[in-house]
Amino acid sequence: MRELDQVIALRLDSGVPLVGQVAHYIIAAGGKRLRPALLLLTCGALGYHGEQRFNLAAVVEFIHTATLLHDDVVDDSALRRGNATANETFGNPASVLVGDFLYSRAFQMMVSAQNMRIMQVLADATNVIAEGEVQQLMNMHNAALDEAGYLQVIRSKTAKLFEASARVGAILSGSSPEVEETCAQYGQALGTAFQVIDDVLDYTGDAAVMGKNLGDDLREGKSTLPLIAAMQRGTTSQRDLIKTAIETGGVAMLDQVVSIVRATGALDVARLAATQEAQRAITAARQLPGGAHTECLIQLAAQLLRRQS
Ligand code: IPE
Ligand code: IPE
Ligand code: MG
Ligand code: MG
Repeated sequence: MRELDQVIALRLDSGVPLVGQVAHYIIAAGGKRLRPALLLLTCGALGYHGEQRFNLAAVVEFIHTATLLHDDVVDDSALRRGNATANETFGNPASVLVGDFLYSRAFQMMVSAQNMRIMQVLADATNVIAEGEVQQLMNMHNAALDEAGYLQVIRSKTAKLFEASARVGAILSGSSPEVEETCAQYGQALGTAFQVIDDVLDYTGDAAVMGKNLGDDLREGKSTLPLIAAMQRGTTSQRDLIKTAIETGGVAMLDQVVSIVRATGALDVARLAATQEAQRAITAARQLPGGAHTECLIQLAAQLLRRQS
C-alpha cells in the first residue's frame, strides 16, 4: 500500500495548479483504498510480484476517485472522507473537470501496462459504472423500484470496479480463465455486499465515523434496499409515508423513515442480503490457492458486514 501511495503521488502531477489542488484535496483525505487492496491481494494470492501491480492498483483508485468527484456533484453531497466535498470547496465545475482528469490519467497509465485484455476489462468497467450512475438517475424518485432494479444499479455502479480490480489481479498473474472468473465473482459479490452495507449506513451510521452525511440517499429520492424492504414489510400507512418521502425527497421525514425502516426489520433484510453476497465472495475466495493473501480476502468479506465507515 505504501508503494501504491507513491505511484499515486507521482502520477497526480499536472502543470495546471487547480488539477493538483483538487486531486490532492480528495486523495490526501484518505479513503480505505479497498479496490487497489483487492487488486494487490489477488496478485499476492496468485503469486504475481511484478511492479505493474502498483501501477494498476493506482489506476483503479484513480477511477474510483473520479467517480467520487462526479458522484458528489450529482448527489449534491457536502461531506466526504471527513472533509467538505470537493464540490463544496472548489465548486461543481472544478470537481467535474478534475474527475475527467483522473479518468483520463487512469487511461494513460493503463496503456503503459501494454496488455490489451487489461485495457478491455478496465474500459468496460468504467463504461458500466457510468451506465449504472445514469440508470440510478433515471430511478430517482421512483418508489416502485424493486430489489432486482436496485441490484442491477449497484452491480454496475459499485460492484463492477471491485470485479475489475480482482480480475485485473488475476490477469496480471497469468491465471487460467477459470481462476480469473473466480476472482471476478469474488469481486462482484464483495462489491455488491459493500454497497448494500453502504446503503444501510446511510440510515443508521455515524457521520463522524463514516466521514459522510447520513440521509443523502433519501434527500435525493434514491430508493435503496432499506426503503424497498420497508415498503414491502410495512403497513399501508408506513408504505405511503416512505413512498411520499422517495417521491418528494423528504429529508424532513428522515426521522420517521428511519423509525419505519427499523420497525419493519428492513435493516435485517438488507443485512441478510449483504451477508449472502459476502458468503458468495468467501466461497469464491476459498477456491483460490491457500495462503495469507487468500485468508485476507476471506477476512475482508467477513468483516465487511460489520463495517462502520
Ligand atoms: C464510496 O466508496 C462509494 C461507494 C461505492 C459506496 P468507499 O467507501 O470505498 O470510499 P473511500 O474510498 O473509502 O472513501
Ligand atoms: C456510490 O454510490 C457511487 C459510485 C461509486 C459511482 P453512493 O452515492 O451511494 O456513494 P456515497 O454514499 O456517496 O459514497
Ligand atoms: Mg453519493
Ligand atoms: Mg451512499
